[in-house]
Amino acid sequence: MKLPRRVTITEVGTRDGFQIEPDFIPTDLKVEVVNRLSATGMPRIEVTSFVSPKAVPQLKDAEEVMARITRRPGATYAALVPNDKGASRAVEAGVDEIHTVVSASESHNLANVNMTIAESLQKLSAVAEVCRRAGKPVVAGISTSFGCPFEGEVPLQNLESVVARLVDLGAKGIALADTTGMANPGQVARTLEYLMPKFPGIEWTLHTHDTRAMAIPNILAAMECGVTRFDASIGGLGGCPFAPGASGNVCTEDLVHCLHAMGIETGINLDALIDTSKRVQEIVGRPLPGQIIKAGKADRRYPLPDSVHRRLAAE
Ligand code: COA
Ligand code: ZN
Repeated sequence: MKLPRRVTITEVGTRDGFQIEPDFIPTDLKVEVVNRLSATGMPRIEVTSFVSPKAVPQLKDAEEVMARITRRPGATYAALVPNDKGASRAVEAGVDEIHTVVSASESHNLANVNMTIAESLQKLSAVAEVCRRAGKPVVAGISTSFGCPFEGEVPLQNLESVVARLVDLGAKGIALADTTGMANPGQVARTLEYLMPKFPGIEWTLHTHDTRAMAIPNILAAMECGVTRFDASIGGLGGCPFAPGASGNVCTEDLVHCLHAMGIETGINLDALIDTSKRVQEIVGRPLPGQIIKAGKADRRYPLPDSVHRRLAAE
């Protein structure tokens, strides 16, 4: 396999995860989770989103969360915005980087942000202007890049035209999002091999959901294509409130465990990450989908059964 020596993970659990929690997570606890994630060495955190509090009441405390977190020098603290109103709020709140959202399929974009793709791109042009003036880099996310829960297949040409518009608007990075876990590794490779040469200089991110247990295989496929940036959620939290059937992102500690096992660096302390995931389980009050938290790391050892002990001693 052609694998990178190092990858950069963006933790999105406090945004993609907390946005869909049934109960409002108190601001104190959101701040605690972000601070714990920072302390693991996490290089990038999508802390929250600046969206309509009517659309996503769970994240209505975005300003307060941004104001109260402790920033680790060198780490990037980003937030998601759908429009210029969100971008202005985010800039005011002092985010380091703006993440935008638009879908590659018309129906999901309407369901998610109540706009056609063309209307969204209009708004994102205004977002780009706000960010240019404030000197904030933009990473543009594209939902339903690999399939839409309403329309099914999303033609690659449709995805390409959205990418082209976002690149024109000055995005430094593009995050292809598999919103409801429809992508497979062959499709991820074909999509990236097609798009990456057409947009030189763009930083590509893969944003996966593990709805159909294909998130890590998809990440491996993307790494073979040269992608080194991945979104992930602590514990495997996550899901889009406006995409039926959406479930959690790839679980951060499972992904980091897999990468470290292959000798790929992340700069993240896995033990601290696992402790953070345990704390997030306590906070949401239910077991999360992550596997490592249940199984332990691959270097976990069990006591030898007495009978085996005796046989080995006798040999
Ligand atoms: N932050 C705060 N409030 C906002 C806002 C933002 N970024 N954007 C719009 N609003 C407010 C408007 O001021 C208006 O308030 P009012 O009713 O008090 O006058 C209200 O929201 C409606 O604004 P409008 O522009 O008509 O938006 P809408 O109702 O068509 O909703 C979005 C459009 C994009 C604002 C909304 O669908 C949204 O926030 N979606 C987020 C989806 C999301 O986070 N999905 C998951 C992540 S992918
Ligand atoms: Zn997502």
